[in-house]
Amino acid sequence: MFIVIEGLDGSGKSTAAKQLVVALESHYKKQVQLSHEPNRAYCGGDYIRDVLAKKITQFHPRVLPMAFAANRLDHCTRLIQPCLDAGQIVISDRYYLSSLVYQSSEDFSFERVMAANEKALKPDIIFFLNVSNEVCYERMANRNEPEELFESRLDEFRTQYISAIHFLQEHHQDNIVEIDGNGTVKQTVQQMLNIINSMQK
Ligand code: TMP
Repeated sequence: MFIVIEGLDGSGKSTAAKQLVVALESHYKKQVQLSHEPNRAYCGGDYIRDVLAKKITQFHPRVLPMAFAANRLDHCTRLIQPCLDAGQIVISDRYYLSSLVYQSSEDFSFERVMAANEKALKPDIIFFLNVSNEVCYERMANRNEPEELFESRLDEFRTQYISAIHFLQEHHQDNIVEIDGNGTVKQTVQQMLNIINSMQK
């Protein structure tokens, strides 16, 4: 099973993903591989991280969707597919829904972003952690790290998430489930676990 966790910056994806690994390993007695995107270990990963950290500020807007798509395809080829082939469960913290949200524009439609990602594996389920802007900003402030490129304008990106989710459901038949992530990590993980368990029946 290939699971993706998505949400705005500060929505608690990484913490929830780590706890979901523990819950799945104990429930299914299977190895669970946790990964994330963008990922430094794969194609263009260092370049992307430097752009996000604002170390590289001069880039053509078309470069980013391509860089994320290449990073993803290499991630699929060298990690996700081999782990799935070995019978493991894979969880990715962010995936192509993030590219639709952050890399689409008037000049680069959802369709074109997905065309760049056409060879990426389709997740069995995508969880969207829905968390209020206030909670997201609070969680980001608690991290005490320099602000990255897309870590503001949460309103705009929330609207983009909603449109992108509808687009994927309508045109790509993706299985996307919204999770209320405003509560405790335990509550968030339990909601995801219930849905995964129901998919096994
Ligand atoms: P994170 O490591 O804190 O999740 O941050 C990764 C950033 O990368 C986040 O601001 C969203 C951005 N991103 C994209 O713009 N496009 C993508 O396809 C992915 C996976 C992430």
